[in-house]
Amino acid sequence: LTLYLPQDAAALALGADAVAAALSAEAAARGIEVRLVRTGSRGMVWLEPLLEIERDGVRHGFGPLEASDTGALFESDFSDHPKALGPVEAIPFLARQTRLTFARCGVIDPLDLDAYRSHGGLKGLARARTMAPAEIVAEVIESGLRGRGGAGFPTGIKWKTVLEAEGAQKYIVCNADEGDSGTFADRMLMEGDPFCLIEGMSIAGLAVGASRGYVYCRSEYPHAIRTFGAALEVAHGAGLLGDGFDIELRVGAGSYVCGEETALLNSMEGKRGTVRAKPPLPAHKGFMGRPTVINNVISLASVPVILAEGAAYYKSFGLGRSLGTVPLQIAGNVKHGGLFEAAFGMTIRELIEDICGGTSSGRSVKAVQIGGPLGAYFPAHMFDTALGYEECDAAGGLIGHAGIVVFDDTSDMGAMARFAMEFCAVESCGTCTPCRIGAVRGVEVIDRIRAGDPAAPAILADLCETMREGSLCALGGFTPYPVESALKYFPEDFIPQKEAAE
Ligand code: NAI
Ligand code: SF4
Repeated sequence: LTLYLPQDAAALALGADAVAAALSAEAAARGIEVRLVRTGSRGMVWLEPLLEIERDGVRHGFGPLEASDTGALFESDFSDHPKALGPVEAIPFLARQTRLTFARCGVIDPLDLDAYRSHGGLKGLARARTMAPAEIVAEVIESGLRGRGGAGFPTGIKWKTVLEAEGAQKYIVCNADEGDSGTFADRMLMEGDPFCLIEGMSIAGLAVGASRGYVYCRSEYPHAIRTFGAALEVAHGAGLLGDGFDIELRVGAGSYVCGEETALLNSMEGKRGTVRAKPPLPAHKGFMGRPTVINNVISLASVPVILAEGAAYYKSFGLGRSLGTVPLQIAGNVKHGGLFEAAFGMTIRELIEDICGGTSSGRSVKAVQIGGPLGAYFPAHMFDTALGYEECDAAGGLIGHAGIVVFDDTSDMGAMARFAMEFCAVESCGTCTPCRIGAVRGVEVIDRIRAGDPAAPAILADLCETMREGSLCALGGFTPYPVESALKYFPEDFIPQKEAAE
């Protein structure tokens, strides 16, 4: 009997190890031989720990499972169990996805290279090895893949810049400093399918002529660090890494701004994690001053399927200039949250109301914040906005790293606007004045608005413009998104508390 149970951080937080121990004990007590495979997560967080039992080639789900539920599993026909969910892949949240990048996540043992191979892994790398560097780059350009870290810059164009840059030594740096609140796609990929990232980085190395790669992972991801580190060892043992291209894992020290690419490079070089002015672009002068590709985990992990199935296949998904799929990460006050990989183009309404079932509190959705702490708040009347780079931009927001946080009608958006400024003040690297001083003044001026100062709204508008136009990086430059959208769509939440109560 083969059982599959996630070892992903979310599943562990919800008790997966206790369930695993109980399963083993219950099976042993009955003399039943079981093979318990620890996987990544399918991304249906509300069902974790989600056990899957394979019967006649179909995996049947049980969840959210507690240790006390395990005995009954062995005592009845499995389908009678009160936590039985039926075939996992028929659960609507999963069935409605287009899993290209996350195809293996939650399916295989993340450290089983044979399973990776038998589920389509290494096909893209094998094809890349038969191609000239410029052909690989052309394939990635043709696919339309854009930076999934948030900025949406075409990945293939970035690779072309590095391929054409002069330099005997070039580098691939993977940005796994996933600091945006409500995002977890990078973590899930590294915990659930680390070879996919290794394969994507190896293809990038071939494409631009780089012999070394680095993964810079945030220290707050101990499970991802452990799993990815173990995957590197397996890859070395199998000869997948080491000869021609090698990867080293680096761990950050808890700074949000080190996810900004130039601060990340400084941190990797052993310097203080502050932002460098661009130009020069990292593509020209990156790590140790050498031409460097810096891509997000998901950008790199999307490359194997592009090479394996071809650019035309990848770009057959999507909308407008947002091609392929995006792993939407839904969190906050939501009934069915988790990771939903879909072709670009789904509307916010379809995702939140239809697929995720609205709020977990059962109240109406007041707003969703898209794109992390620097993303805009979308009010309910804008939920027909399609999830794509240009579409979110045209609506005054950004899709960013595709984190979506849901708020119900009890939320205080004035407090959320204040939090955005506070967050910027705490995380500012201090290099430029609009962010370093502006964010502190921003907190004060929002307090003045909420205290009823009639002069304060104009000051906030002026301050936001200064931060947007004058900041050196996205932290200071994008903080006005949540602040101004909250003020624009929820002005009632900025009315002084006393008046509001009257
Ligand atoms: P950016 O627009 O300055 O650059 C995007 C990328 O394209 C960079 O790697 C840049 O070096 C590269 N690039 C630009 N022109 C190029 C050229 N001609 N040739 C080659 N490469 C070129 O944006 P930035 O500051 O890198 O990222 C901002 C984004 O980061 C925001 O949109 C935000 O959503 C996102 N973000 C993501 C977080 C996360 O946790 N994933 C956290 C915070 C922000
Ligand atoms: Fe540093 Fe803020 Fe300026 Fe970015 S905007 S460089 S985080 S001070």
